[in-house]
Amino acid sequence: MIVKIDLRSDTKTLPSDLMRKAMANAQVGDDVAGEDPTVNALEARAAELLGKEAALFVTSGTQGNLVSVLAHTQPGQKIIFEQDAHIFHYERGGLARIAGLLAHPLPGHHGAMDPADVEEAIWPQEAHRAPTGLIALENTHNRAGGTCLSVEQTEAVCEVAHRHGVPVHIDGARIFDAAVALEVPACQLAAPADSITFCLSKSLGAPVGSLVCGSGEFIARAREFRKILGGGMRQAGIIAAAGLVALEHELPRLHEDHEKARQIAETLQELPGVHLDITTVQTNMVRFELRREDMSAQELCARLADYGINAIAQDGTRIRFVTHRDISFADAERVCTALREVLASD
Ligand SMILES: Cc1ncc(COP(=O)(O)O)c(C=O)c1O
Repeated sequence: MIVKIDLRSDTKTLPSDLMRKAMANAQVGDDVAGEDPTVNALEARAAELLGKEAALFVTSGTQGNLVSVLAHTQPGQKIIFEQDAHIFHYERGGLARIAGLLAHPLPGHHGAMDPADVEEAIWPQEAHRAPTGLIALENTHNRAGGTCLSVEQTEAVCEVAHRHGVPVHIDGARIFDAAVALEVPACQLAAPADSITFCLSKSLGAPVGSLVCGSGEFIARAREFRKILGGGMRQAGIIAAAGLVALEHELPRLHEDHEKARQIAETLQELPGVHLDITTVQTNMVRFELRREDMSAQELCARLADYGINAIAQDGTRIRFVTHRDISFADAERVCTALREVLASD
């Protein structure tokens, strides 16, 4: 069976024809020397969209988070984040290995930390305690199922952090999804924080790249760390060109991904053995649990493969579906039909 519908991640999208054309025609130069006009245009556009002074084009979300962490902190300091944060679970321990930070995970609700918990975790300065160097937020929150942090939630944590002289970084890999779902401009979600990373290669559908945005001084430091990490990419305008297309042509259609996720979630909700908190279906992800005697999450994914649907189980009971540009509304309907056929009877 040829897989036609890939629900594993929005990172699976392939570049559009418009992106490929823009890449072929991109004006380029040596970006390490700041001479690539297409990278410069992308950085300027990113800074404008996120309402920050400057931006830096990096290879990936992981590199964006890492250069941000390095630019904000000193080794031996502590970083506070919600316990399911991507930066903690899926970035190969770069926080410890490269930045030399002590990790302080806090419990969260749908990916949001309680500002009171954050305040308590910022230990008072005394001889025995590691100073807090950074607080990291995630919006949308991947492991929570694509849930959004509102402007108010972001402001509340940033107010606590800033009162204690601690900067805040947002891992905003999918910040534009949050902006669409909350109906606020992305710059409002970023405004309370000191820096933000967002990805071009996820729901925006570009092949490569992320942007870090912040003050001019912060971005200059992040640029140094990008070089140290081997992220200086020379004629990177070739890939930045696809990013510019993504910002122009993909942003306006993100709401469609959310509608497709909703359509699938509403179908799942009706099926026996499926446990799904519909309040978490806010953007392009659907996270659910399958609690059935006759079928594990892995078995469900194997059955879906027979319908040309590619999905992966997170463990024996949990599955996450992600909708994206390369899944049409008709594809989403096919997913619903397949789920009904496979799960209708228990
Ligand atoms: C919330 C979040 N942050 C960071 C990343 C890392 O991005 P990359 O895979 O480009 O390194 C991801 C990847 O899925 C993510 O979901």
